[in-house]
Amino acid sequence: KKVVLAYSGGLDTSVILKWLQTTYNCEVVTFTADLGQGEELEPARRKAEMFGVKEIFMDDLRETFVKDFVFPMFRANALYEGQYLLGTSIARPLIAQRQIEIAEQVGADAVAHGATGKGNDQVRFELSYYALKPDIKIIAPWREWELTSRTKLLEFAEHHQIPIAKDKRGEAPFSVDANLLHSSSEGKILEDPAVEADEIVYQRTIRPEDAPDKATVIAIDFEHGDPVAIDGVKLSPAALLTRLNELGKANGIGRLDLVENRFVGMKSRGVYETPGGTILLAAHRSIESITLDREAAHLKDSLMPRFAELIYNGFWFSPERRMLQALIDESQKSVSGRVRMKLYKGNVTCVGRESPNSLYSMKHVTFEDDQGAYDQFDAQGFIKLNALRLRLGAIAGRRGGSL
Ligand code: ARG
Ligand code: SIN
Repeated sequence: KKVVLAYSGGLDTSVILKWLQTTYNCEVVTFTADLGQGEELEPARRKAEMFGVKEIFMDDLRETFVKDFVFPMFRANALYEGQYLLGTSIARPLIAQRQIEIAEQVGADAVAHGATGKGNDQVRFELSYYALKPDIKIIAPWREWELTSRTKLLEFAEHHQIPIAKDKRGEAPFSVDANLLHSSSEGKILEDPAVEADEIVYQRTIRPEDAPDKATVIAIDFEHGDPVAIDGVKLSPAALLTRLNELGKANGIGRLDLVENRFVGMKSRGVYETPGGTILLAAHRSIESITLDREAAHLKDSLMPRFAELIYNGFWFSPERRMLQALIDESQKSVSGRVRMKLYKGNVTCVGRESPNSLYSMKHVTFEDDQGAYDQFDAQGFIKLNALRLRLGAIAGRRGGSL
């Protein structure tokens, strides 16, 4: 019996590791990924070795995370419930995918994760596992064990000589999930949605109030819907997002305090920081504004909430996500060009856009003499036929659109 555990090296997953070894009496294989969370991986290796783990997997997944998950999602301008940039949701399918690959490689019959039974993450991990390996066994310790409180968990840790970081001994003030796209904080001191989040919650942006009084203007180049360069310098996907994160951080961009609806039914309050992603969304919409046909843009916009919802709910590896992705990717063929974005005290605004594929016609839109490009007389019939049904309704006594 072998199980592949998604292991961060933190207290919770260390307890899970030990618990799997003692309760299930199985051989645990650990998998630790660098998704740009900004933590060292080596301590996780040392801890795993200390627990007697023989097969330890450590992977730098930053490039594939941004290239194959974050960018495809941003092509859709995906936002859950109008605001959440899905920073945690989009990382789960990648972790699950790699975990299944490792399970197949080492001949493990089970996988385990550290998400609780109350949240979205358990759903995202497990839907992905099942979609990739339908006969996989899943162990979700939080749904099974007797360690139902922080106190019991700490007792278990002490009993098994699991190192507890000094600041973890007391109640950690909130739970954090981080990667190259975002940091999310939930729980504990954040649980009352009426109370403003303390400044200590924010870890990757400065306060907009403290940001420079002078604006920063940057140029972002896009090719087929993906950003490829900043200020003319070509960057790999992960390097580009890292650079946008630095620029966003310094200008206090990308903070969000949100109450959202979890898939399992409850509402939860989270504080998110998505500095680079916030700039990227605005920039992508700006390049689309001149390169996309109106109906193409409106159609993909109408599908966006569905796309965002299925990523939030954990259906990345589903036929409906792939169908929508194909439509979105097709729409991005001409989405290339350059935008200039102004960053200033928590705000990001487009101040210029240009593209060899631009559909913007100065000749048509000008308030000056357009030399016959557009015949204003055509608009009369256009309006009259659009008005016909409204007039017939009014004649029938239903004025002003009454039913
Ligand atoms: N509510 C966010 C989501 O469902 C984040 C969940 C994980 N965050 C955390 N701090 N444990 O995507
Ligand atoms: C968790 O419950 O493990 C984190 C929050 C979530 O998944 O929604």
